[in-house]
Amino acid sequence: MKLTGRLSVLCKELESCTTFADVGCDHGYCTLYMLESGLCRTAQISDISEKSLKKAETLLSAYIAEGRVRPVVCDGLAGIDSQTEQVLIAGMGGEEIVKILSDGFLPPKLLLQPMKNAEKVRVFLLRHGYALLRDHTFYADKKFYDVIKAERGGVQEEYSEDMLMFGRGNILFPSADFAKMLERDIERCRVWQESAKEGRAEICARLQKLEGLYDETCRRLRGH
Ligand SMILES: C[S@@+](CC[C@H](N)C(=O)[O-])C[C@H]1O[C@@H](n2cnc3c(N)ncnc32)[C@H](O)[C@@H]1O
Repeated sequence: MKLTGRLSVLCKELESCTTFADVGCDHGYCTLYMLESGLCRTAQISDISEKSLKKAETLLSAYIAEGRVRPVVCDGLAGIDSQTEQVLIAGMGGEEIVKILSDGFLPPKLLLQPMKNAEKVRVFLLRHGYALLRDHTFYADKKFYDVIKAERGGVQEEYSEDMLMFGRGNILFPSADFAKMLERDIERCRVWQESAKEGRAEICARLQKLEGLYDETCRRLRGH
């Protein structure tokens, strides 16, 4: 199975578990990875869109026939067994992820990949007793992504404002990917600043924050 760069990073973060669910599974590749790697015995695949779920059902038809995969069309966690040990929610906005978790149940293990508003996901997880085991940015398939791996009831590390906004891993152990993302955001901010008719103070403050972080990140990457 050939995974995209983003999916291979995500799949490497998935853990062995008794029950797994891929919420908003679309193609179903992560569930195929879990099964073929022997990381779970049974899985649930769900999507709010019947058409999207069909793709995963086709990919996983042999496992469905065997009774090892249960497909369900549902909104968020509505049709997922509340005893599920590990849940993956990837490729959706952070607000949607927070809504899914708020309306559903809180599984012991979560792997989340919000497309935006990752800070809202961090705040939600910390407020609900999750320890964030992995929380960083990676570059794959010409885009930047955040990955957040959380475990309920684990030891919660302290989170500063910057950690909430940018990810704890990026602040503590900055990577070249994070530096590249800051470069892109600084460039975008400069363009906005030049063309902005309103909100210049906010853009200026944002730019200063990004430049400060970028300098610190580069200094750390050089080993100083
Ligand atoms: C961009 S795709 C991501 C697919 C896959 N998780 C991935 O990361 O490659 C987002 C999928 O989530 C589904 N989706 C969006 N909101 C949902 C919700 N509230 N509950 C279940 N599925 C949802 C969409 O139908 C779509 O198939």
